[in-house]
Amino acid sequence: MYSMGKNHQKINTYAGKEEFFKYYENLANELRAEDFYYAFAFQNEYQSGDIKKYLKEFHLKLAEKNIDDRAIFDKTIEAMAKKTYSNNENIQTKFKDFHIPVGLVVTKDRVLQLGWKPEPFIIEINNKSLFRHYCDFFMENWNSSEAIEFTKEALEKFKYAFVPEALQRINNLRDNKLALKTTQEIEKIENSWKYKHKSNKRDFGQKVKGETIKLWSVPRSTAELLEFFTVATKSKKILEIGTSAGYSTLYLAMGATYNKGNVVTLEKLKEKADLAMGNFKKSGLKNISLLVGSAEDILKKNKFGKLDMIFLDADKENYGKYFDLLMPLLKKGGFIVADNVFDYGHMMKDYLDKVLGTKLPNSQSDRRVISYTLPIDNGVIITRKIKD
Ligand SMILES: C[S@@+](CC[C@H](N)C(=O)[O-])C[C@H]1O[C@@H](n2cnc3c(N)ncnc32)[C@H](O)[C@@H]1O
Repeated sequence: MYSMGKNHQKINTYAGKEEFFKYYENLANELRAEDFYYAFAFQNEYQSGDIKKYLKEFHLKLAEKNIDDRAIFDKTIEAMAKKTYSNNENIQTKFKDFHIPVGLVVTKDRVLQLGWKPEPFIIEINNKSLFRHYCDFFMENWNSSEAIEFTKEALEKFKYAFVPEALQRINNLRDNKLALKTTQEIEKIENSWKYKHKSNKRDFGQKVKGETIKLWSVPRSTAELLEFFTVATKSKKILEIGTSAGYSTLYLAMGATYNKGNVVTLEKLKEKADLAMGNFKKSGLKNISLLVGSAEDILKKNKFGKLDMIFLDADKENYGKYFDLLMPLLKKGGFIVADNVFDYGHMMKDYLDKVLGTKLPNSQSDRRVISYTLPIDNGVIITRKIKD
């Protein structure tokens, strides 16, 4: 259990089928007629047969008790949801063109974050303000004809889910044990691996002449967010700019395996590319390709096909340029995730103008995208392409 003193927040995790079933059985017993169960159900396709069957029975139990039971489904699973709940008049459903990177339930006095891969898991968050916030968010969506995407504020609260202790438990169920072990090996050399340019030329990653280059891998919670986000958005074709030792690449690739997808990653420094290649081999993952060279040259020369997701984590000063090169490669509805807005925001001003700018007439913002900043670690901006 994880608790945060000031907020009086308690987080419990339940992982694996056995704990999942037990939790839902207790919940069904605990709920009373005056209670409610509101779910955003957009990850249903990840549920296996017996979980689906179990949840169907759970909703029938709620019907017997006359509990206010509502679900907002992602439109893509409308047919399946209607079929599953056709024998239950108590459950009220709405279908929306909805994209939220997390499975969410508000019930009784708590928020539940649900996931189905690699095994079902529940992160139970007991936090009054978060609970109220998500109740309002659910009702706002329920009463609106349009889908209201997560607001900045709601996304900010979403970070509560990424509690290391909670994720650690879930990680223990992973099928990619070897890949996870490789990420831990990279963590061990994070502070000791060093490289000094032989030439004195001022170049990428070398802000000061003679500066020592390190790995600069993302923190683990950002890496886990990347993996979770890849699974939740069902991204299959992923491009990463800035490989280093391949730490974030491995998390992206672990996520992509659930979608039968793959990751192409770009790295300019040969020494790092060699290190990453070794790590990819060790990880046993077969869905990674590495291209060595400058991102700009590679983006101009190579054909990538339409991408679902791009992770930008290289030379910040060129993000604006990459944005222009990447937009034609990104499919409508796809995402660009960019790291380091909190520590290197000043170096990516043109990028920020494009993705975060205001909607005022003279703003530099690109109207084909909408963005949210997630206050995780060094600041992660999630940008979605809404128009071609
Ligand atoms: C912050 S590190 C990447 C860390 C990695 N994403 C992770 O979290 O494990 C940035 C990497 O981008 C590489 N890089 C910098 N400029 C580049 C460019 N123009 N083209 C390709 N790679 C570049 C650097 O050599 C460095 O390894």
